[in-house]
Amino acid sequence: MFSSRLPPDVAPNALTRRLEALRAEGERIVDLTESNPTRAGIDYPDDLLTGLGTAAALRYAPLPLGLRSAREAVAADQARRGAGVDPAHVVLTASTSEAYSWLFKLLCNPGDRVLVPRPSYPLFEHLTRLDAVEAVPYDLEYHGRWEVDFPSIERGLVERTRAILVVSPNNPTGSYLSRPEADRLVDLCAGHGLALIADEVFADYTLDARADRVTDLALQERALAFTLGGLSKSVGLPQLKLGWMVVGGPPARRDAALGALELIADSYLSVSTPVQLAAPALLGRGHVVRERIQARIRENLARLRSLVAMHPSCELLPAEGGWSGVVRVPDLQGEDALVMALLERERILVHPGYFFDFPRPAYVIVSLLPEPGVFADAVARMLQVVSG
Ligand SMILES: Cc1ncc(COP(=O)(O)O)c(C=O)c1O
Repeated sequence: MFSSRLPPDVAPNALTRRLEALRAEGERIVDLTESNPTRAGIDYPDDLLTGLGTAAALRYAPLPLGLRSAREAVAADQARRGAGVDPAHVVLTASTSEAYSWLFKLLCNPGDRVLVPRPSYPLFEHLTRLDAVEAVPYDLEYHGRWEVDFPSIERGLVERTRAILVVSPNNPTGSYLSRPEADRLVDLCAGHGLALIADEVFADYTLDARADRVTDLALQERALAFTLGGLSKSVGLPQLKLGWMVVGGPPARRDAALGALELIADSYLSVSTPVQLAAPALLGRGHVVRERIQARIRENLARLRSLVAMHPSCELLPAEGGWSGVVRVPDLQGEDALVMALLERERILVHPGYFFDFPRPAYVIVSLLPEPGVFADAVARMLQVVSG
C-alpha cells in the first residue's frame, strides 16, 4: 500500500509492546534509555526562552539558508569549539535528522549508497531509507578503544557510494574520530570523489580529557565535507528544532553544494523565525545548560564505573564522550531475554547491544542522563541481574 521507503513491518517489537502494556497498567518503569535532557531533571534557567517572544518574529522574511544573525551565532559557537568558520558556509535546519535528509537529497540518487558506522545510532537505517538511499555499514572495532576498521570502508567503496558518515563522538560507543582517522577518511573521500558527513552533535560532551577531539573537518579543502550539530544536544533543547551544518572542502565544490542546498532549503523553509532570532541568545547562554548536563553525565559515569567494578563478570567500556555508558555483560541468555528480564523483574528499561548493531552479545547500554539517585539505584539492581 505504501512506498518501499518504509520498512515492511512498522509494528512495535515485543519489548515495546510489553513496556506499553506495563505503563498502561500504571507500573513505574525506570528508563535507563532516556536521551531527552528535558525529562531528566536538569535545571534550565527560567528565562532561557525569552528571546523566542521577540516582536521581530511577527514579520516573516525567510531566507533559505537561515537568517544572517543566526548563522553568525552558529559560526561563533563553532569558533568556541576551535573551528573558525565563515557564517556564509553555515546552513540552518530544523534538526540534525533534517540535515541528513537534505544531504542525501543533495548527494544521492535513489539507490545510491552511503557508508555508516556500526555500532552506531539506529536512526540511520530509517533516515537513509526514507530518502531512498542504502546505508552500508562499516565497522568500528574495539581494541581498548573503538577504532575505524578501514578494510570495511574500502569494501564499501563501490560505484554507487556517495558519502561516508562519521559520528564523533559516536552514539553510543562514545568514541571520537582520531586525527589520523580523520586524515585518512579525508584522503579516501578526496580520492574517490565522496563527501564526508561528520555528525558532531555530542562533540561538547567530553568524558575523557585525553580524547582526540577533531572538530575542524569542514575547514580542510581536500574533500567536500559537512559537519552537523544542533541545539538538541549542545544546549539540551531538542524541542526548539534548530540544527545546522557547516559546509567545507574545495572552494568550488563547497560553493556549488551551498547553492544546491539553498534550493533544497527553499523548498521547505522549515526553520522557524522565532528560533532563528533567538539563536544568538540561546547559543550565548547555552553553556549554563551544557555545564549542568556535563556535570550530570560525569557524575553518573563515575557512579557507573564504581558499581560495575563490584561485578568482575561485567566491564564498563571506556567512554570518551557523549551521553551513554556501554557495559559488557556475560551472555547467559541472549540480549532479548536479558532486557525483557530486567523489565519484568526490576521494571528497568535498558538498550541491548543489538539495538545499536554491536558485533556480538552481550552489551547493555545505559543513558547517563537520569537523576543520579534513580540512576545509581537502578544500575545497582540491573548489575545484580545481568552479572548472573
Ligand atoms: C548521533 C546522533 N545524531 C543526530 C541525532 C538527532 O539530533 P536532532 O535532534 O538534532 O535531530 C541524535 C539523537 O539522538 C544522535 O544520537
